[in-house]
Amino acid sequence: MNEEEIKHDIKEFNNLREQLNSLTEEIEKDGKSDQQLLTGENRKEFVEALETANSFVSGISGYFDGLAKSQLYYSDHDWEHRRKKDTQAVIREKKKDLDDLADQNEYLIKHPRLSNLFLEVTLRCNAKCEHCGSSCGYDIPKDEITAEELKKTLLEIHNYYGAQNVFLTVTGGEPLMRKDLFDIMKYAVGLGFHWGMTTNGMLIDEEIIEKYRETNMESISISLDGLKETHESFRRVPGSFDKIMHAIDLLKGLETLRSLQITTVANQKNLGELEDIYQLLLDKGIREWRVMCVDPIGRACLNDGILLDKKGLVKMFNFIIEKRKEGRMVVDNDCSHYLGLKYEQITRPHGFICGAGIFIGSILSNGDICVCPNVRYKELVQGNIRTDSFVDVWENRFEKFRKKRITTNAKCKKCKSYKYCRGDSFHTWNYEDGVPNMCMKDILQEEFVE
Ligand SMILES: C[S@@+](CC[C@H](N)C(=O)[O-])C[C@H]1O[C@@H](n2cnc3c(N)ncnc32)[C@H](O)[C@@H]1O
Ligand code: SF4
Ligand code: SF4
Repeated sequence: MNEEEIKHDIKEFNNLREQLNSLTEEIEKDGKSDQQLLTGENRKEFVEALETANSFVSGISGYFDGLAKSQLYYSDHDWEHRRKKDTQAVIREKKKDLDDLADQNEYLIKHPRLSNLFLEVTLRCNAKCEHCGSSCGYDIPKDEITAEELKKTLLEIHNYYGAQNVFLTVTGGEPLMRKDLFDIMKYAVGLGFHWGMTTNGMLIDEEIIEKYRETNMESISISLDGLKETHESFRRVPGSFDKIMHAIDLLKGLETLRSLQITTVANQKNLGELEDIYQLLLDKGIREWRVMCVDPIGRACLNDGILLDKKGLVKMFNFIIEKRKEGRMVVDNDCSHYLGLKYEQITRPHGFICGAGIFIGSILSNGDICVCPNVRYKELVQGNIRTDSFVDVWENRFEKFRKKRITTNAKCKKCKSYKYCRGDSFHTWNYEDGVPNMCMKDILQEEFVE
């Protein structure tokens, strides 16, 4: 998409949003004549539907807006180039974008809407990665949710929110370890859900591809953490690299797939291989690559020699920026952490929002209802699908993520970047001490521009 086309799309979306706004206003104002057409519950539903459409369009237009802006930064607004000319002008521009995003964030916190639901179907795993944030292993935990329990909750979510409005991301552990996974997904797709998965890719064969096809799987993210030797020692599974390469070849023939993404968790052991991985993926025909840093959660805390320091993070960000400029592949940093004015937007198309409990929810492998599966602190669990209605929990609890956000603390409140960062990602928060475990301002120092 070129700049002109993106601008055109934004204009179209904004026109549509304005039309919807004025229609909603008219209906609200002209209650009497409107009631002749729509009365009681019907009218309420109609107005609600318009509001939903409105916020959907607003979200899409925000996304395209962000995309267009970040594209502009790569071309004539390039940070490095402009910095030499007029740093203050670039900072002002970015701040304005981030102010808009902060307003959107504020709106979303007040009007949470479930749109991404993670299903952590198991904590079992056929790998034992050094960095595993969920500390997964081979044993079957006794309290794993059953297919029937999950189906019942999916039906409830469909009845209340409409399956087509909530995207399901199946994760784990290794989701393909669950033998009844496709039974669950067949049911979900029958209700109208769209779905994708994150996987280590080791179990994907012709039979699994056929099951993906039957259940209309639309997106997949496969983890690859290095070239053969590094990947296999990091994941502690000999032979896993070749299995992933084979899986990629098989997935290319899957017609239902809209997104085939590779995820690499950059760490001290693979940082020097990023360029080689890039070439390998290009040769394999991959067009989407997510490069993110290892976070201090789960097993990564036991192997803290793998965490990236300031030098490592700067190297990773600059690598992402360089590859985005080349434009041969969509290379993105993930959604975590507020990165400061220098690296926000230029390493990913969207600015930072931690969507935990705002538009992201999860059902964990024991039925616990929480936010994204990386947030594993038991005090934050909001309910359990075995004893609670998911909808009731989503609608009436989640206070800690919304009204009384626990990431408000003395240090962050004083911070100049609080408006944009809000105490950073929930999954790296230190709940015992009430402070962020990962603050990019502390780590990046002068590279974190405020
Ligand atoms: C928890 S795994 C579950 C799916 C699957 N087993 C896999 O490895 O892709 C989902 C993603 O989280 C990443 N991940 C695990 N621990 C992490 C950590 N400490 N920091 C950042 N990402 C992590 C994995 O590398 C993987 O890409
Ligand atoms: S990161 Fe994924 S593959 Fe590795 S141990 Fe955790 S769940 Fe298993
Ligand atoms: S102190 Fe760090 S974590 Fe807190 S708001 Fe500022 S940048 Fe974010």
